[in-house]
Amino acid sequence: MPLKPDDTVCFCFHVPLRKIEAFCRIEKPAVPSQISDCLSAGTGCGWCVPMLKQIHRRMCPGRGPWWKSDINSSTDTAGAQPQSVENGAPADPQRSDQNVDAAAYAAGRQTYIASGQGKPPAEKTSG
Ligand code: FES
Repeated sequence: MPLKPDDTVCFCFHVPLRKIEAFCRIEKPAVPSQISDCLSAGTGCGWCVPMLKQIHRRMCPGRGPWWKSDINSSTDTAGAQPQSVENGAPADPQRSDQNVDAAAYAAGRQTYIASGQGKPPAEKTSG
């Protein structure tokens, strides 16, 4: 089940799918890392980075660095399993925006943090 528009994609900065899709539609980022300009998504623990890459691929087809043009070609995405941008291996289905529900995605992030793979940013304190 795909994420819904109001489901959170980046928990560190509380960024929902709706905001990231709107950012991609309007700004058309050339590379996934530019999505960090959308409320700092992806700049905390790193859990959501594979998801941001998948959203970028879906929302900005044909956009990407020239040296990865084969990855962004339109022929490799129709009906195919998500692939890792880095090594071509199957992407983690728990972090694919089309294959995971919000609860499983959130639980996966908790496991990710608990295993020490990523550190969330410090909470802001008022005062
Ligand atoms: S969940 Fe997005 S950086 Fe941590």
